[in-house]
Amino acid sequence: MVFLLLPLILLVSTIICDNSVDEKYRINCQPGRDKDPNNCTKLGCILDTSNNTNIPLCYFPAETGYIASNLSNNNSATDKQIILQKDSNSVKNPFGTDFSQLNFTCRRYRPPISIADSTTINSSEKLTIVSTQNKIWSFSVIRNSTGAKIWDTSLGGLLFADQYIQISTIVPTDRIYGFGENIHPSLKHDFSQFRTYAMFARDEAPDSKNPLVNNVGKNLYGVHNFYIGFEGDGKAHGVFFFNSNAQEVTIGGNAITYRTIGGQIEVFFFPGPTPEEVVKQYQQLIGTPILPPYWALGFQLCRYGYQNVSEIRDVVERMKAAGIPQDVQFSDIDYLNQYEDFSYNNDSFADLPQFAKDLHNNYSMHLTLIFDPAIEVDYAPMNRAINADAKFIQWPRADLVPTDTQNRYPLIKNTSIMLGKVWPVRNVAFPDFLDTEPKTNNWWINEFMLFHNQVEFDGAWIDMNEPSNFGTKFRNSTTSTEKDDNAPDLECPKVGNDSKWDLPPYETQASFFYGNDGHLEGKTLCMIGKWGRNKYYLYDSKSLYGWAESFATHKAIRNATGKRGISISRSTFPSSGKYAGHWLGDNTARWEDLRSSVIGAQEFNIFGIPYVGSDICGFGQNTTEELCLRWQQMGAFHSFSRNHNDKNMAPQDPTRWTTVAAAAKKANLFRYRHLPYLYSLHFKASLFGGTVVRPLFFEFPADDFVHQISYQFLWGSSMLIIPVLESNKTTVDGYLPSTATWYSLYDDGYGQKVPNGNSTFTAPWDSLIPVFLRAGSILPRQTPAQTTVLARKNRFEVVIGLNNDAVNGHSIANGELYWDDGDSIPPADLSMHNFYSFIFSFDATSQNATFIITKTKTATNLSLPAVENIEIFGYQWTPDFSTATLNGNSTDITTLSTYNSTSQILNITASGLINLNNGGPTWTFVLANNQPIQTTTHTNGGGGAEKTFTILLGFFILFFVIVLN
Ligand SMILES: *[C@@H]1O[C@H](CO)[C@@H](O)[C@H](O)[C@H]1NC(C)=O
Ligand SMILES: *[C@@H]1O[C@H](CO)[C@@H](O)[C@H](O)[C@H]1NC(C)=O
Ligand SMILES: *[C@@H]1O[C@H](CO)[C@@H](O)[C@H](O)[C@H]1NC(C)=O
Ligand SMILES: *[C@@H]1O[C@H](CO)[C@@H](O)[C@H](O)[C@H]1NC(C)=O
Repeated sequence: MVFLLLPLILLVSTIICDNSVDEKYRINCQPGRDKDPNNCTKLGCILDTSNNTNIPLCYFPAETGYIASNLSNNNSATDKQIILQKDSNSVKNPFGTDFSQLNFTCRRYRPPISIADSTTINSSEKLTIVSTQNKIWSFSVIRNSTGAKIWDTSLGGLLFADQYIQISTIVPTDRIYGFGENIHPSLKHDFSQFRTYAMFARDEAPDSKNPLVNNVGKNLYGVHNFYIGFEGDGKAHGVFFFNSNAQEVTIGGNAITYRTIGGQIEVFFFPGPTPEEVVKQYQQLIGTPILPPYWALGFQLCRYGYQNVSEIRDVVERMKAAGIPQDVQFSDIDYLNQYEDFSYNNDSFADLPQFAKDLHNNYSMHLTLIFDPAIEVDYAPMNRAINADAKFIQWPRADLVPTDTQNRYPLIKNTSIMLGKVWPVRNVAFPDFLDTEPKTNNWWINEFMLFHNQVEFDGAWIDMNEPSNFGTKFRNSTTSTEKDDNAPDLECPKVGNDSKWDLPPYETQASFFYGNDGHLEGKTLCMIGKWGRNKYYLYDSKSLYGWAESFATHKAIRNATGKRGISISRSTFPSSGKYAGHWLGDNTARWEDLRSSVIGAQEFNIFGIPYVGSDICGFGQNTTEELCLRWQQMGAFHSFSRNHNDKNMAPQDPTRWTTVAAAAKKANLFRYRHLPYLYSLHFKASLFGGTVVRPLFFEFPADDFVHQISYQFLWGSSMLIIPVLESNKTTVDGYLPSTATWYSLYDDGYGQKVPNGNSTFTAPWDSLIPVFLRAGSILPRQTPAQTTVLARKNRFEVVIGLNNDAVNGHSIANGELYWDDGDSIPPADLSMHNFYSFIFSFDATSQNATFIITKTKTATNLSLPAVENIEIFGYQWTPDFSTATLNGNSTDITTLSTYNSTSQILNITASGLINLNNGGPTWTFVLANNQPIQTTTHTNGGGGAEKTFTILLGFFILFFVIVLN
């Protein structure tokens, strides 16, 4: 559905009758700086004189909106357009003149990307749009199968002026998840107060301790105006509001209100009906997430403030000596020569090129370097940019250019480039990654290639790309505000027509949050700036900067390295996940930040960016031993797993404390062991769409209790993690959904069934945090090693959690594995990539157990380690190891295999057990059981001693029968 603008024709203003509106359906009429109650009625709005600060006290009358002029009798608007007239009786738009006529178009969405048949999602669910004309025009989005109203705009509030657009909808539920990038106090939104979340890309550190100030959540680095909602019967839908202007959403009462200050209202609805299907449908639109190289799933280490390469070499050595798996070492801006991109400091970092080689050759590790978008305007890369006709964000007209500043720099003297100031000493320019010609991106790619010829980095960390700028202020026509002689501040026009972009009528919470001096250009460039070769105003498109840089850098890293590479971007927008991952920004070493990162990673999976994680141990402030330990334990379960901290903070790499080193080693070894599963989840998300780290409500939507859970999460459908997120704890309270059976995968009761529902789990420092395997699952795994490069050569293993509740006495489980070389550049259509996929199935009865591996796709020139270990939880019969066969041929597993009848863990181990390089496409492993043991004496063919207990309830008599041969 799209609202498209028609030319402004007429304006009628009106007087409104007083008609109070129930709190649940109120739309704030004074969302801006003017909170004066005396002004409320002047605006035509309704004043509530109560003192309740949690509801809008000045609000729009119910009949605020437009009237349909051509609605047909059946009121169905599907696949046609409606002409809307501003209701002459309706209240005026407080922030501009409403367009008197809008063209409302409903259209069925067909994703604009070509997708293979196998990725087509068939949904039996249909959504219908029904248009209604009462006093004002409104529409509903209805699920056809149930009649549930996903959206219902009958509460009014539709306004559409040039720089103020508003639409409100009643929602069927308070089970709403999403919107970003903000810190949310809980995964599920709270409708009990009217909370507004600003969305406008900004260089702004998360404040997890005070996520809301006066019910406003500030905007962070990226913009994701997408949510998943549940209807009463548990069916899920998704709603994507596609707009790149400064925008915000208010969540409260029974409604959601969207405000944006430009562009159009374009809303996409996804029918689900499961949350995972909603995400897949969303990704049919925005693109499926990038497949990271395998090494990027290894542990990563960074800090801001490394003095030189030898300090970095020391920490890598310490990690190795401590046996803590590590795959990637980072360098922050410390390595740069005068903070200039594509350079390195020839003194303290002279050894960087050799260090990169050593990481590859001696450590089988990888190097990721930071790259900021801002380019210092007086050195070789800028010269090459000018020669290549690359573009930079610029002033729209030459008369706006501050020529004094421009003239300081010979290279850009006669350009309209908008100069900013970031880390380099002198002024900087911001590459035009939306250049309508390929010149800018080609120059960027070329710079990456030239620099890679010097330093063989593997990954790119793209920071500061909101874009961030220091010291932007309003232009004062008389006095110069210049402070920094080396690099004058950027000044934006404050008066006249040109102030339209930097001082719009409604500046959004992204400005108000910072008080009366807060404006859209705070910490960034002037909104009047243009890019796309002078095509787009930053006012409309600034939030796309990080997205556009991700797109260019994705190509650059691949061209430079010839390998898959990976970029991590601070600023993101819908579809960024196709090109990059994300870290949750400059957090603080506080427990609140550890907790909010658990929510953040789940939200970014919903946003289509599953390669995400937080700065482990916290970036700002000094961490503590305990916090760092708990964060290392939790962070081992985020796809992007990196410890990073700020300059001048005490070192916090895991080797700093023996306890943290031990916990990090243990957590990382667990992670590395289960990377084949994590990688398979990423592979599937890249192929078909979907999530990797998954909120519990994705798998158990019918369980009311899980909708309240923020701080537990799943890997895919099968592994559940309950992190410890508070200090002074050696236990953690958690919930295991009761419609599944769970086995412990961690120290306490490894391999044992765990009671579901609410429990307190042991979690001392020297244990893993509680991790559980869902019965019915088979996870591929691999013996871990110091790096993923080494681990990939080790034997494959599988862990099987049997679901014994199945009918007919069968104990079953299923799983899958996706495997490729982990580092080559896949074709644009990932399904054409050179990779293997396998399906695992396990089925046991009292007679025997059958484990079948089926190769569903084969790769060439890629050999696989053999499956040499099968660990099975919940195995209820005593197997006879001598009966084992593979594809009908006897296979010897007797030497190393074990079965423990008390723990019911069956462990089948044999060298070269299942060689996936030979035969296939199906490998069938069968193992017979000894006959079920009766409570009477019988012969045990296996030769061991067995015990059987029979308890006669009520008599407290224990029959203890020793069965001996
Ligand atoms: C109230 O409205 C008047 C007239 O539009 C305006 O001048 C004044 O600044 C407003 N009050 C506040 C607190 O913004
Ligand atoms: C609101 O609070 C003020 C001061 O606390 C009080 O005088 C006034 O009576 C209150 N009004 C209502 C409607 O409760
Ligand atoms: C309304 O928009 C549709 C779709 O863009 C277009 O086909 C139609 O001509 C427009 N109608 C008017 C009256 O502009
Ligand atoms: C669903 O669609 C069918 C066919 O279009 C229609 O007959 C039926 O009334 C719809 N159901 C609901 C609940 O809207």
